[in-house]
Parts: sequence; C-alpha cells; structure tokens
Amino acid sequence: MRDKSINVKKIAVLTSGGDAPGMNAAIRAVARTAHENDLLCAGVMAGYKGLMAGDFMPLGPRSVGMVLGRGGTLLKSSRSKEFTTYEGRQKAYQQLKENEIDALIAIGGNGTLTGAHLFGKEFAFPVIGIPGSIDNDLFGTDYSLGFQTAVQTAVEAIDKIRDTATSHDRIFFVEVMGRDSGWIALHTALASGAIAVALPEVSFNREKLLKTVLKNGRLGKLSSIVVVAEGCKEGSAGSLAGWMQHMHPEYDIRVTVLGHLQRGGPPAAPDRILASQLGHAAVKALLAGSTDVMVGQINNHMALTPLIDVVEKDNRIDTHLLELVEGLSN
Ligand code: F6P
Repeated sequence: MRDKSINVKKIAVLTSGGDAPGMNAAIRAVARTAHENDLLCAGVMAGYKGLMAGDFMPLGPRSVGMVLGRGGTLLKSSRSKEFTTYEGRQKAYQQLKENEIDALIAIGGNGTLTGAHLFGKEFAFPVIGIPGSIDNDLFGTDYSLGFQTAVQTAVEAIDKIRDTATSHDRIFFVEVMGRDSGWIALHTALASGAIAVALPEVSFNREKLLKTVLKNGRLGKLSSIVVVAEGCKEGSAGSLAGWMQHMHPEYDIRVTVLGHLQRGGPPAAPDRILASQLGHAAVKALLAGSTDVMVGQINNHMALTPLIDVVEKDNRIDTHLLELVEGLSN
C-alpha cells in the first residue's frame, strides 16, 4: 500500500454518497493541510459525477473558512451509477490527468470507497479514503464522520417524542436511518432509554416485546419508545406498530419516521474533531507514499486500513449493547 515514487503537487478531494455532518470539516482539514505542505488542492463538485465531468474548483485555505461547523457538504454529493463502470472511471482518469492532479482523497461510505479502490487499482492512481457515513458501517475506524451527530440528533428528537408519549401514555415506534446497519438504532436506543430496538443484523423477537410492555404496564410504566432501524428485516416501524395494535387494540400507539433530518445539522464536536484529524492524516498519508487505504481512528489512534478490507469487512455492532437496552427496559 506504499509507493515511494509518488510525487504529489496537486490533490483533489470529493464527497460522494449520502452526505454526513463533518464532511465540511474534513474538506477544510484537507485543504489547509495541503496548503501547509505547499500542495495545490482542487475540490471536485458533486462526487464522482463531477470527477467524470471535470467539475473542479480551487480550494485554498480561505475558501474553506466558516465551514467547520456547517452540515452537508460544500462540494455537494451524488450517487453515480456511471462511476461503477470502467468507462466512467476512465473518464475520471482523463479529467484528473488534464487538470494535472496527482492524487485523490474520497470522503464517503462503502460505495464511495469501493469506487476509490477500483479507480486506484485500474489506473495506478494514488487514492486515500476518509470514512464519511452516518451509518458507521465501515471497517477500519471506530466511528465514521457523521455517526455521532446523527445519533445525537435522533436522541434529541426522541427526548421530545417522550414528552408527548408520557403525557398520553402512548407507545411510540421511532424509525431511524440504517438500511443495512443498526449502529444508529442501537446507540440511539441506549441513549434514549428505549425498551427495545429492532436491527437489520439481529432477528427481532416480537413476542418478547409484548411481554416487556405487559410487564412494564404491571409495574406502572405506561409509555414506551421502541427504536426501529430502517433496514429491520421483520418490518418497518409502521408495520411493527400495526402488528402490535392488532394484537392489543387497547394500546395507544404512534409512529414517527425521523428520516433525513438525521443527516443534517451542524456536526457535533466529536465529528468536527474526528474530521479535522482524518483530513489532516489523509494528506499526510499521501505525502508519505500511502495509497489505496482509508484513514480511520481505532482506540484513539490513527490507523491506515487497505480499502479492500474497508469495503469487504464489516464494522460489527456490539450485541452487548442490545442486551443492555433490554436489561434496562423495565
Ligand atoms: O448511507 C446513509 C443513508 O442515510 C442510509 O442510512 C440511508 O438508508 C440512505 O443513506 C438514504 O439514502 P438517500 O438519501 O439516497 O435516500
């Protein structure tokens, strides 16, 4: 994963896939570290779509002022089908060559880093990945950019839902993001005192949920929160709520889908800090001759992980946390 012959003068940075709070902070860190090290930096607009179209803008230290605390991505993002093809990646390579760009830093999730890996291999082009996804499903880092903010956002929303749930003795099924990953659901459930959480990775026991609600009712707990990940195999928050209502018509049940609000908003301090560290580390890794790796943080230490491992291995959820949610549900 090291190529000492890399002579980097100009780098490009892009954000691709689902935006995540902290992406701007990472772009800022990349641009300013590049400047510190006498490198030119180009921002690529709209991810791989802009890369194939040659849509670049110069990124100096001043152009990334006032973005540290802003959500979304100033470079915009997209999900590109064309870049999943060799022809698409070839277009991107031509654009990089024409613009005299020597290396690429890609900020995003699994799809983004899969594209970066293929591109780097096919064209022997130096690439470094930065994990940016609220889903936190990337191997090679404890946290991806945006995850901690998304959890905070979901928890704040549920705190509000709990006020009305308690006032009416209602059961709320709250759906959070995560098509294939239960990280947001699990952490949100624990931090918001949910009685149960339904995840894509673990089969959900409906009967157990009914027993918990009945037992809690006998103990005087009349309102509850159940957190459901978007990708739960046993059904959406709406369908699980419908099933419970069918089983217990006497319960007062409501559903809230938090949706894309979890992706927006100013990044929480931990994401700003992580983004600054990862953006800096990505440029330094390029200068040290690394390629085809992702910069991440594992146990508070910077780590470089081959992109092939990042995209092929899983960042597994901690099932002990699931037991903890259930153990504290009474
Ligand atoms: O990958 C991040 C994510 O927010 C997932 O949690 C969610 O399933 C998906 O993106 C939604 O994607 P889109 O914004 O394209 O609908």
